[in-house]
Amino acid sequence: MDNYNDLIDMDDYTVPQWLEIIELAEKIKANPEEYGEKCKGKIMATLFYEPSTRTQMSFQAAMLRLGGSLIGFDNPSNSSVAKGENLKDTIKIVSTYSDILVMRHTQEGSAKAAALCADCHVINAGDGGHLHPTQTLTDLLTLKCELGRLDNLTVGLCGDLKYGRTVHSLVKALSCFPNNKFVLISTPALALPGYIKDVLKGRGAKFTEVNTIDEAIRNLDMLYMTRIQRERFESEEEYIKQSGVYCLTKAKMEYARKDMIVMHPLPRVDEIEVAVDDDPRAAYFRQANNGMYVRMALILYTLTKKPKVKPLLTGEIHNSVECTNPKCITQTEKYLPHSYINRGGILVCEYCDERILL
Ligand code: NCD
Repeated sequence: MDNYNDLIDMDDYTVPQWLEIIELAEKIKANPEEYGEKCKGKIMATLFYEPSTRTQMSFQAAMLRLGGSLIGFDNPSNSSVAKGENLKDTIKIVSTYSDILVMRHTQEGSAKAAALCADCHVINAGDGGHLHPTQTLTDLLTLKCELGRLDNLTVGLCGDLKYGRTVHSLVKALSCFPNNKFVLISTPALALPGYIKDVLKGRGAKFTEVNTIDEAIRNLDMLYMTRIQRERFESEEEYIKQSGVYCLTKAKMEYARKDMIVMHPLPRVDEIEVAVDDDPRAAYFRQANNGMYVRMALILYTLTKKPKVKPLLTGEIHNSVECTNPKCITQTEKYLPHSYINRGGILVCEYCDERILL
């Protein structure tokens, strides 16, 4: 297993490295034509096992704007996956054709699994309801551009905090900066998972949990709205119970501070009234545009930095212990070593972060 500059989770890079990538994105944004040849001769593969508009196209546009080329699929049924090929074989082969492999997959922990088999750098473009680090880089760049800082922020996160992978990566990242406070706005059924709350507690970051936007909106620097992740629910019935609960309206925006911004990873369904788009505090379309510049910076950074020297799996191998998360990649890719981090007697799956009670 060789080492590469993989980005599976935000903590694959240090905070100073995130800032370096964001600063590079700002430079590119100010002067994009200077970077038009930087990736000439390089190939990026985009393997999207799940639907995507922004993430996929902004990655593709980023590589094309750097002068590189693309291969890949956005519908696995057009690839050998439809013939029953496992993840390992697909990744093994495609990674020998390319310099960077960007993957979005339905299962949690799939990006780590891909990195284990790849012969090139792997970037996680979303692994089920688990993590989405490149959206977080986009969000950090947006906060820096819009508010000028990444610390001393009161951030409200609203909607599907359970399955929203963008929320998980963002909360983990923002809790690394001093004095950031979190107001978690969700129904009890869609509350932030325990493993992310543990990260907040471990870092001493303050957070409160409330049920409504109205309780939180007055004191926020940023409100992060999210879509209820229909595709991740056990049943349509469960989804219907949670859908339509939150909607940010023009009327609610009256109560927000004049300098608060609204962010959303998009796509929007019904959680932000279209009339809010005209409010200058609505930053979500600017945020989506930042995604392309941050991905240009990330591609350049990945290809030009010396590969990191770090093992991909650091846990204890217990092949007889099955991960209890039905959405974990180890459920379907049976050849993967079952690796767990031992946290005081509790085993945590190294792919999907599920806590295993023995
Ligand atoms: C998000 C995702 O795919 O997790 N979108 C994105 O990448 N910009 C959010 C979502 O699908 O709701």
